[in-house]
Amino acid sequence: MSEPTGIKGGAHSDTVHDSAIKHVTGRAEYTDDMNEPSGLVHACLGLSDCAHGKIADMDFSDVLASEGVLGVLTASDLAGVNDVSPNGLNDDPILADGHVMFWGQPVFAVVALTRDQARRAAQKARISYQPLPHAIDPIAAREADMGYVTAPMTLRRGDVSAGMKSAPHRIRGSFRIGGQDHFYLEGQIAIAVPGEDDEMTVNVSTQHPSEVQHMVAHVLGVPSHSVVVNVRRMGGGFGGKETQMNLFACVAAVAARRWNRAVKIRPDRDDDMIATGKRHDFVVDYEVGFDDQGRILAVQGDWYARCGFSADLSGPVTDRALFHADNAYFYPDVELRSHPMRTNTVSNTAFRGFGGPQGVIVAERMIEEIAYALGRDPYEIRQRNLYRNGQLTPYHQEVSDQILPRIFDELERSSDYQKRRQAVLDWNARGGVIRKGIALTPVKFGISFTATWFNQAGALIHIYADGSIALNHGGTEMGQGLNTKVAQIVAEAFQCDLSRIKITRTTTEKVPNTSATAASSGTDLNGMAALDAAEQIKSRLVEFVAERWQVRQEDVQFIPGHIRAGDRDIPFNEVISAAYMARVQLSAAGFYKTPKIHWDRATGRGRPFYYFAYGAAVSEVSVDTLTGEYVIDRTDILHDVGRSLNPALDKGQIEGGFVQGAGWLTCEELWWDDQGRLRTHAPSTYKIPLASDRPRIFNVQLADWSENAERSIKRSKAVGEPPFMLGISVFEAINMAVASVGGYREPARLDAPATPERVLMAIQRLTS
Ligand code: MTE
Ligand code: MOS
Repeated sequence: MSEPTGIKGGAHSDTVHDSAIKHVTGRAEYTDDMNEPSGLVHACLGLSDCAHGKIADMDFSDVLASEGVLGVLTASDLAGVNDVSPNGLNDDPILADGHVMFWGQPVFAVVALTRDQARRAAQKARISYQPLPHAIDPIAAREADMGYVTAPMTLRRGDVSAGMKSAPHRIRGSFRIGGQDHFYLEGQIAIAVPGEDDEMTVNVSTQHPSEVQHMVAHVLGVPSHSVVVNVRRMGGGFGGKETQMNLFACVAAVAARRWNRAVKIRPDRDDDMIATGKRHDFVVDYEVGFDDQGRILAVQGDWYARCGFSADLSGPVTDRALFHADNAYFYPDVELRSHPMRTNTVSNTAFRGFGGPQGVIVAERMIEEIAYALGRDPYEIRQRNLYRNGQLTPYHQEVSDQILPRIFDELERSSDYQKRRQAVLDWNARGGVIRKGIALTPVKFGISFTATWFNQAGALIHIYADGSIALNHGGTEMGQGLNTKVAQIVAEAFQCDLSRIKITRTTTEKVPNTSATAASSGTDLNGMAALDAAEQIKSRLVEFVAERWQVRQEDVQFIPGHIRAGDRDIPFNEVISAAYMARVQLSAAGFYKTPKIHWDRATGRGRPFYYFAYGAAVSEVSVDTLTGEYVIDRTDILHDVGRSLNPALDKGQIEGGFVQGAGWLTCEELWWDDQGRLRTHAPSTYKIPLASDRPRIFNVQLADWSENAERSIKRSKAVGEPPFMLGISVFEAINMAVASVGGYREPARLDAPATPERVLMAIQRLTS
C-alpha cells in the first residue's frame, strides 16, 4: 500500500501490529509475565462436583493443614457483595453460597505461598452435597420448567400467520447449534496488589477494565476511586474476557485485602474451561413460507438458548441472535422469539458475534430448505432474497447501505463459482467415496452495542515537551490491532510518524467509565475519541503558531513532521517546545458517542445499529463418506471494511474470524454428560482448528471500493466479528457434499458442529 500522507504509519496504511515482533519473540508482556511484587501469594479455586444441590457440609481441615496454605475463602468471607453479575440482577455469586447450580461452580478459594501448593491443597477439601434435580440442555430445561434467566424478546413485523397461510410452500424444521469454548491462548488471570488505605490495584486480562473496577470496588465495599485496573494486552479474549474475569479479579482482591499481600490467580486450562462461560448453544424451531420462485414470504422461529445458571450477558446475546436471524434477507412477515433458558451449566457469555452467528446460520438453513424443495442452487435463492435498500428489518430499521449485490457479483466471478459448482455436481454424479460441496454465503452484521449507552468512549493524549506523544484510550488490545489503528489515526492527525507515539496500557486511572472492548466497535469508538483529543491539541497549536509566526490561522497546516506557518515549515519538535515555553496546554481528553442510534426493546423497534458490515465467502470441501472426515479445498472471501484503516490487520481479522467460525461449525464440540459434567475441558478432548485445517487455497480480498456511508472513523467499518460468520460457507458446503449421497432430494440438515461423526450419521440416514 502507498503512504498517502508521506508519514510512516498513518491511517489507511499496512502498518504492522505494534506488538507483532514482541508476540513472536516472546517479549510481549502479558499479565503473568509482570515482575511480581515481593510477598506475592497464589489463589486456587475449588470447584463443585455436583450439577445442582445443597451444600450439606464443607470440611477444610486437610486443606488448611496442607503445606504452604495461608487460608481458605468461602462465601461467608465476602464481607461486601458476593456477586459479579454484569446486569444488576444479583444472580452471579463469586463463591457458591449454600447451594451449587452447576458442576464446576467455584465454591471456595485456597491461598498458599506457591501456585503448586494452592492447587494441591484445593484437592483436599471434603464437600458433600444433597443433590437436587438438574436440567442440562435448553429442551430439558423447558420440560423441567426451569424458566428464563432474563426477559425474552420478540421481534415482529407484519402478520406472520396470515403470511404463512397464504404462502404456496411452507417448511418447518428444528436445528441444534453447538456452543464454543473461547480457547484464548492466555487464560484467565488476575493479580491484586493492596495499597495504602483502601487502595487496590488489579492487573488482569480483561476486555472491560471499568467493569472489573466496579466489581472489585463493590466486593471490597470501597468507592471506585480506590480501585485501579490495568491491562497492557490480552492473549486473546474473543468475548471470554468481557465478564468472565470479574470473578478471578474479585477473588484475588478479596484475598489481597484479607492477607494484605499481593495475590495472583491463574487457573489451569481445565479449570478455566470448566468454570467460565462459553458461546451459547441453541435449539431453534423455524418455519418458512415461500413461493415457487423461492421468494421468502413469512418466517417465524423460536430460539432456545442454553444460558446456564445465571443471566450474565444472555439477554443481549439472545437478542442479537434475533437481530441476525434475517442475515441478509428480507422477510415480509416475520415473528422471532427468544427463550433464554436457565440450565444447570456454567453461565454462557459473549463470544465473537455475540449470538449473531446463531441467528445467521438459521437464515442460511432456511435458504437451503427452500433451494432443495425447489431443486435450485441455494446461491440463486440467496440472491433472490437479498435486502433492497428501503426495506425494513424485523426490528424496523431501514436497510440503506446494501452492497451485497456487488459483493456477490464480484465474488462469483473471482472465485469462478458457477463453473466450479458445475464441476462439483459432475464429480458427485460419478458416485465415488469422496463427495464435494460448494457454497457461497453472505453476512450482514449490525455494528453498535444494542445497549445504547455503551456506545461511548474516551481517550487521553499527552504531548511531552520533547515532542513525544503518549496515547491512551479506553479500549483494550487482545491481538486485534486496536492500539495500532488508534495510534495510526493520531499519527495522521498530527502528521507525524507512528514511532513518535507511545501506546500505553489501558488503565482506569487515565480514562474512566469505559465500555467493554466488544461488539467490534473498539476502533469506531476509541479512534473517534482519540481523534477528538488530537483535534483539541491541534487547534491550540494552530492558534499558538499563528500568533507566534504572525500568520493567519487558515495558513497554519500540519504537514509531515512539520507545521507550516505561511511559507515556513517548522519542525514539529520545535513547535512543541516553543508551545510549552509559551504555556500552551499540550494534553487533552477526548470523547465520542455514536450518533443516530436508539432502541426500544419493549416494542422491538428502533435503529440499534449505526451501520452494517457486509461480506461473502465461497468454500469448497471434500468429504470422505466412509470416515466422515473432510478438508476445505478452497475458500474465497470478499469482505467489506469500508475504507480500511489498515488492510493488513483487517485481512488478519478476516482470516482469523473465518477460521474460528469454521472451527465452531466443524471440529469444536462441547459435550456434557448426564451428570452435567463437561467432558471436553482440555485440548485432548476439545479440538480447535489446526493450521493444517485451514483452506488449502485461501484468497481473502477487501471490497476496497467500499466506504462507510455513515461518518465513522475515516469511513472505515468494524471488522472484529463479522467475518466469523463467513465460516458458515464451510458448513453449507459440507451439507451439500452430504446431500449428494441422497441425490439432493433433501438437504442434509446437519446439526452443528458437523463433526465427522454427525456427517456419517447423516450419510447413513440419507442412504437407508
Ligand atoms: N482478534 C484477536 N486476535 N483476538 C481476540 O480476542 N476478539 C474478537 C475480535 N477479534 C479478538 C479478535 C472480538 S469477540 C471482538 S468483539 C473484537 O475483536 C473486539 O475488538 P475491536 O472492537 O477492536 O474489533
Ligand atoms: Mo466480542 S463477543 O463482542 O467480545
